[in-house]
Amino acid sequence: MSSRNQKSLLDLRSLSQDQVLFLFEKAKSFSQESLAGSRESKRETAALIFFEASTRTRMSFETACARMGLHPLFLDAGGKTSLEKGETQEDTLLNIAALRPAVLVIRSGDGLDQEAMGRTIDVPIVNAGWGLRGHPTQALLDIFTLWKRGRNLEKEKILIIGDIRHSRVAASHFELAKSLNYEIALCGPKHFLPENSQFQVFSKMEEGLRWCTTAMALRVQNERHAEGSGSANKDYHSEFGLTKKRLDDLNKEIIVMHPGPINHGVEMTTEVVHDSRAVILEQVTNGIYIRQAVLQRALGEEF
Ligand code: CP
Repeated sequence: MSSRNQKSLLDLRSLSQDQVLFLFEKAKSFSQESLAGSRESKRETAALIFFEASTRTRMSFETACARMGLHPLFLDAGGKTSLEKGETQEDTLLNIAALRPAVLVIRSGDGLDQEAMGRTIDVPIVNAGWGLRGHPTQALLDIFTLWKRGRNLEKEKILIIGDIRHSRVAASHFELAKSLNYEIALCGPKHFLPENSQFQVFSKMEEGLRWCTTAMALRVQNERHAEGSGSANKDYHSEFGLTKKRLDDLNKEIIVMHPGPINHGVEMTTEVVHDSRAVILEQVTNGIYIRQAVLQRALGEEF
């Protein structure tokens, strides 16, 4: 056996009593360093826990962690985890919190109560998309994108188009607009609109586009619709899809946003996705900076 292999730990038969006690002493000194907050223990981790699918948010948080020297611990519920042995999401979170990450970033459905977990766990929680409740960092990065371009937010009129009833992104914008004073109006088919809207509603896309300074198309969430079908999407596109013609006919410049992922040919044509008025990939890049700022705040930076 090579000397490197002698360092393997495959069973406990191969450890002498002295070697076990040496490990205990080492572990004790790590626990004391951790309590004392020594330099060694300051290599902090961020637990990124995704009970639902994600591309942008997950990789954006991972990128933010890398830039901040935070080591990401990633849990993907679709992968091989003890969730498939029946462990609850709550127990999963309690166990991950016991690994002492500096922050828990959680994407979940409405079935998990992130607020209640926040009262149980003594680690800051960042909502990375929570059922229909909200997607705070998405709304922040959307508005940061406008702010970074030098737009006056108090003059911004954002037309949120589409599947608003099922959108956590819209829910977070309803909250953010109150503090930043941007105007919101809604546009979409009746069955996609909130039942009691506090905002102006445009049933005709052209009227909404004439009103707005920014058009924010939301993904049609087919997975949440019993009636979701190709033909329904085709009807949706003809009434509420963003096309180059609709944008050109305005005779004014507006900004086009989409949180992604996009259903091409439904919320907008592929031509609009790549149009200079669309800032969709700029939103994605800005997401890193917003998440860095949010993580910094979670780590204790005073605001
Ligand atoms: N916008 C957004 O939340 O995308 P993901 O679901 O890919 O993270």
